[in-house]
Amino acid sequence: MSRQIEIIPSILAADWTRIGEQVREAEAAGADGLTLDVMDGNFVPPITFGAQMLEAIRPLTDLPIEAHLMVEQPERQIDPFADAGATCITIHIESTRHPHRLLQHIHDRGCEAGITLNPGTPIASLDPLLQNCDRIQIMSVNPGWGGQRFIPESLTRIREARTRLDNAGRRDALVAVDGGVNKDTIAQIVQAGATWLVAGSAIFNKQKTIAESIHRLRAAIPTA
Ligand code: DX5
Repeated sequence: MSRQIEIIPSILAADWTRIGEQVREAEAAGADGLTLDVMDGNFVPPITFGAQMLEAIRPLTDLPIEAHLMVEQPERQIDPFADAGATCITIHIESTRHPHRLLQHIHDRGCEAGITLNPGTPIASLDPLLQNCDRIQIMSVNPGWGGQRFIPESLTRIREARTRLDNAGRRDALVAVDGGVNKDTIAQIVQAGATWLVAGSAIFNKQKTIAESIHRLRAAIPTA
Protein backbone atom coordinates (compact mmCIF):
# COMPACT_ATOMS: atom_id res chain seq x y z
CA MET A 1 0.00 0.00 0.00
CA SER A 2 1.92 3.06 -1.20
CA ARG A 3 0.59 6.08 0.62
CA GLN A 4 1.15 9.63 -0.63
CA ILE A 5 3.92 11.53 1.14
CA GLU A 6 2.41 14.49 2.98
CA ILE A 7 4.41 17.59 3.85
CA ILE A 8 3.05 19.30 6.96
CA PRO A 9 4.39 22.74 7.92
CA SER A 10 4.62 23.37 11.64
CA ILE A 11 3.58 26.95 12.33
CA LEU A 12 5.87 26.93 15.34
CA ALA A 13 8.54 28.17 12.92
CA ALA A 14 6.30 30.64 11.07
CA ASP A 15 6.39 34.42 11.43
CA TRP A 16 3.78 34.82 14.15
CA THR A 17 3.23 38.45 13.22
CA ARG A 18 1.88 37.19 9.87
CA ILE A 19 0.34 33.82 10.73
CA GLY A 20 -2.69 34.27 8.49
CA GLU A 21 -0.60 35.17 5.47
CA GLN A 22 1.80 32.30 6.15
CA VAL A 23 -1.03 29.78 6.46
CA ARG A 24 -2.46 30.90 3.13
CA GLU A 25 1.01 30.91 1.55
CA ALA A 26 1.69 27.38 2.79
CA GLU A 27 -1.61 26.12 1.38
CA ALA A 28 -0.97 27.85 -1.95
CA ALA A 29 2.51 26.28 -1.99
CA GLY A 30 1.02 22.80 -1.80
CA ALA A 31 1.26 21.93 1.89
CA ASP A 32 -0.80 18.83 2.66
CA GLY A 33 -1.76 19.99 6.15
CA LEU A 34 -0.60 22.05 9.10
CA THR A 35 0.47 21.17 12.60
CA LEU A 36 0.16 23.22 15.77
CA ASP A 37 2.86 22.47 18.33
CA VAL A 38 0.96 23.00 21.58
CA MET A 39 3.34 23.42 24.50
CA ASP A 40 2.43 24.13 28.12
CA GLY A 41 5.76 24.96 29.78
CA ASN A 42 5.49 21.75 31.85
CA PHE A 43 5.66 18.73 29.56
CA VAL A 44 8.25 20.78 27.64
CA PRO A 45 9.84 24.05 28.83
CA PRO A 46 8.46 26.46 26.22
CA ILE A 47 4.87 27.72 26.12
CA THR A 48 3.29 28.26 22.68
CA PHE A 49 -0.46 28.50 22.23
CA GLY A 50 -3.81 26.93 23.04
CA ALA A 51 -6.96 26.20 21.08
CA GLN A 52 -7.46 29.90 20.34
CA MET A 53 -4.68 29.67 17.74
CA LEU A 54 -6.64 26.94 15.96
CA GLU A 55 -9.84 29.01 16.23
CA ALA A 56 -7.94 31.84 14.52
CA ILE A 57 -6.50 29.88 11.61
CA ARG A 58 -9.25 27.30 11.04
CA PRO A 59 -11.38 29.65 8.92
CA LEU A 60 -8.36 30.53 6.72
CA THR A 61 -7.76 27.11 5.21
CA ASP A 62 -9.37 23.81 4.31
CA LEU A 63 -6.15 21.95 5.01
CA PRO A 64 -6.17 19.23 7.69
CA ILE A 65 -4.81 20.71 10.93
CA GLU A 66 -3.18 18.55 13.58
CA ALA A 67 -2.89 19.58 17.21
CA HIS A 68 0.27 18.05 18.67
CA LEU A 69 -0.28 18.18 22.42
CA MET A 70 3.03 18.52 24.21
CA VAL A 71 1.24 19.15 27.48
CA GLU A 72 0.66 17.56 30.86
CA GLN A 73 -2.97 16.50 31.37
CA PRO A 74 -3.76 16.35 27.63
CA GLU A 75 -7.31 15.28 28.56
CA ARG A 76 -7.95 18.95 29.33
CA GLN A 77 -7.11 20.01 25.76
CA ILE A 78 -8.90 17.43 23.61
CA ASP A 79 -12.35 19.02 23.71
CA PRO A 80 -11.12 22.62 23.15
CA PHE A 81 -9.09 21.57 20.11
CA ALA A 82 -11.85 19.34 18.78
CA ASP A 83 -14.32 22.21 19.23
CA ALA A 84 -11.90 24.52 17.38
CA GLY A 85 -11.83 22.18 14.38
CA ALA A 86 -8.76 19.96 14.74
CA THR A 87 -8.58 17.26 12.07
CA CYS A 88 -6.17 15.17 14.14
CA ILE A 89 -5.18 15.35 17.79
CA THR A 90 -1.89 13.73 18.76
CA ILE A 91 -1.02 12.97 22.38
CA HIS A 92 2.27 11.93 23.98
CA ILE A 93 2.19 8.50 25.60
CA GLU A 94 4.42 9.93 28.34
CA SER A 95 1.88 12.63 29.23
CA THR A 96 -0.98 10.49 30.54
CA ARG A 97 -1.74 7.36 32.56
CA HIS A 98 -4.73 6.73 30.26
CA PRO A 99 -3.61 6.89 26.60
CA HIS A 100 -6.10 4.19 25.55
CA ARG A 101 -9.04 6.11 26.95
CA LEU A 102 -7.84 9.44 25.52
CA LEU A 103 -7.44 8.00 22.03
CA GLN A 104 -11.02 6.71 22.30
CA HIS A 105 -12.20 10.15 23.38
CA ILE A 106 -10.40 11.81 20.44
CA HIS A 107 -12.28 9.43 18.13
CA ASP A 108 -15.55 10.10 19.98
CA ARG A 109 -15.01 13.79 19.13
CA GLY A 110 -14.70 12.90 15.44
CA CYS A 111 -10.97 13.56 15.12
CA GLU A 112 -8.17 11.33 13.93
CA ALA A 113 -6.11 10.08 16.86
CA GLY A 114 -2.33 10.22 16.91
CA ILE A 115 0.03 8.81 19.50
CA THR A 116 3.57 10.08 19.72
CA LEU A 117 6.59 9.30 21.83
CA ASN A 118 9.81 11.00 22.83
CA PRO A 119 13.12 9.67 21.49
CA GLY A 120 13.78 7.81 24.77
CA THR A 121 10.47 5.91 24.90
CA PRO A 122 10.43 2.33 23.54
CA ILE A 123 8.22 1.83 20.48
CA ALA A 124 6.94 -1.38 22.08
CA SER A 125 5.08 0.77 24.62
CA LEU A 126 2.61 1.53 21.83
CA ASP A 127 1.62 -2.14 21.33
CA PRO A 128 -1.59 -1.89 23.42
CA LEU A 129 -2.63 1.17 21.38
CA LEU A 130 -2.08 0.00 17.82
CA GLN A 131 -5.79 -0.71 17.26
CA ASN A 132 -6.85 2.66 18.71
CA CYS A 133 -4.73 5.13 16.77
CA ASP A 134 -4.75 6.41 13.21
CA ARG A 135 -1.07 7.25 13.31
CA ILE A 136 2.13 6.80 15.23
CA GLN A 137 4.30 9.91 15.33
CA ILE A 138 8.01 9.43 15.86
CA MET A 139 9.65 12.41 17.55
CA SER A 140 13.01 12.65 15.82
CA VAL A 141 14.11 15.45 18.13
CA ASN A 142 13.49 15.99 21.82
CA PRO A 143 10.27 18.01 21.88
CA GLY A 144 10.10 21.70 22.71
CA TRP A 145 11.98 23.52 20.01
CA GLY A 146 12.20 23.80 16.26
CA GLY A 147 15.46 23.95 14.32
CA GLN A 148 17.08 20.94 16.03
CA ARG A 149 19.16 18.23 14.37
CA PHE A 150 17.43 15.03 13.29
CA ILE A 151 18.31 12.18 15.66
CA PRO A 152 19.68 9.45 13.32
CA GLU A 153 18.47 6.55 15.52
CA SER A 154 14.96 7.70 14.64
CA LEU A 155 15.22 5.86 11.31
CA THR A 156 15.23 2.50 13.10
CA ARG A 157 12.28 3.65 15.20
CA ILE A 158 10.33 4.68 12.10
CA ARG A 159 10.90 1.23 10.59
CA GLU A 160 9.89 -0.45 13.85
CA ALA A 161 6.70 1.61 14.11
CA ARG A 162 5.74 0.74 10.51
CA THR A 163 6.45 -2.96 11.13
CA ARG A 164 4.45 -3.04 14.35
CA LEU A 165 1.46 -1.40 12.67
CA ASP A 166 1.64 -3.79 9.70
CA ASN A 167 1.96 -6.84 11.97
CA ALA A 168 -1.08 -5.63 13.91
CA GLY A 169 -3.11 -5.48 10.70
CA ARG A 170 -2.97 -1.69 10.62
CA ARG A 171 -1.64 -0.98 7.15
CA ASP A 172 -4.28 1.77 7.10
CA ALA A 173 -2.55 3.67 9.89
CA LEU A 174 0.34 5.96 9.03
CA VAL A 175 3.72 6.78 10.51
CA ALA A 176 4.45 10.46 11.04
CA VAL A 177 7.78 12.08 11.84
CA ASP A 178 8.38 15.36 13.64
CA GLY A 179 11.72 17.05 14.06
CA GLY A 180 14.68 17.80 11.82
CA VAL A 181 12.87 16.97 8.58
CA ASN A 182 14.74 18.76 5.81
CA LYS A 183 16.12 18.27 2.30
CA ASP A 184 19.01 16.19 3.67
CA THR A 185 16.98 13.87 5.91
CA ILE A 186 13.68 13.47 4.05
CA ALA A 187 14.80 10.69 1.69
CA GLN A 188 15.89 8.34 4.48
CA ILE A 189 12.80 9.18 6.51
CA VAL A 190 10.50 8.26 3.61
CA GLN A 191 12.49 5.12 2.80
CA ALA A 192 12.09 4.08 6.46
CA GLY A 193 8.31 4.16 6.03
CA ALA A 194 7.08 7.57 7.18
CA THR A 195 4.52 9.43 5.08
CA TRP A 196 3.32 12.36 7.23
CA LEU A 197 6.31 14.66 7.58
CA VAL A 198 6.20 17.64 9.93
CA ALA A 199 8.65 20.37 9.00
CA GLY A 200 9.09 23.76 10.63
CA SER A 201 12.44 25.43 10.02
CA ALA A 202 12.89 23.72 6.67
CA ILE A 203 9.76 25.50 5.44
CA PHE A 204 9.63 28.76 7.38
CA ASN A 205 13.04 30.40 7.12
CA LYS A 206 14.75 33.55 5.90
CA GLN A 207 16.70 31.89 3.10
CA LYS A 208 13.82 30.78 0.86
CA THR A 209 10.13 31.43 0.36
CA ILE A 210 7.63 28.93 1.69
CA ALA A 211 6.94 27.76 -1.85
CA GLU A 212 10.64 27.31 -2.63
CA SER A 213 11.14 25.46 0.65
CA ILE A 214 8.24 23.05 0.11
CA HIS A 215 9.33 22.47 -3.48
CA ARG A 216 12.86 21.72 -2.29
CA LEU A 217 11.56 19.17 0.20
CA ARG A 218 9.36 17.46 -2.39
CA ALA A 219 12.24 17.36 -4.86
CA ALA A 220 14.31 15.44 -2.30
CA ILE A 221 11.68 12.69 -1.85
CA PRO A 222 12.84 9.50 -3.59
CA THR A 223 10.52 8.46 -6.42
CA ALA A 224 11.30 4.72 -6.44
C1 DX5 B 1 9.38 20.06 18.60
C2 DX5 B 1 8.50 20.51 17.48
C3 DX5 B 1 9.35 20.59 16.22
C4 DX5 B 1 8.67 21.24 15.07
C5 DX5 B 1 9.44 20.94 13.81
O1 DX5 B 1 8.68 20.02 19.77
O2 DX5 B 1 7.42 19.60 17.32
O3 DX5 B 1 9.73 19.26 15.90
O4 DX5 B 1 7.40 20.88 14.95
O5 DX5 B 1 10.58 21.72 13.87
P1 DX5 B 1 11.79 21.52 12.85
O6 DX5 B 1 11.20 21.03 11.55
O7 DX5 B 1 12.39 22.90 12.72
O8 DX5 B 1 12.68 20.52 13.47
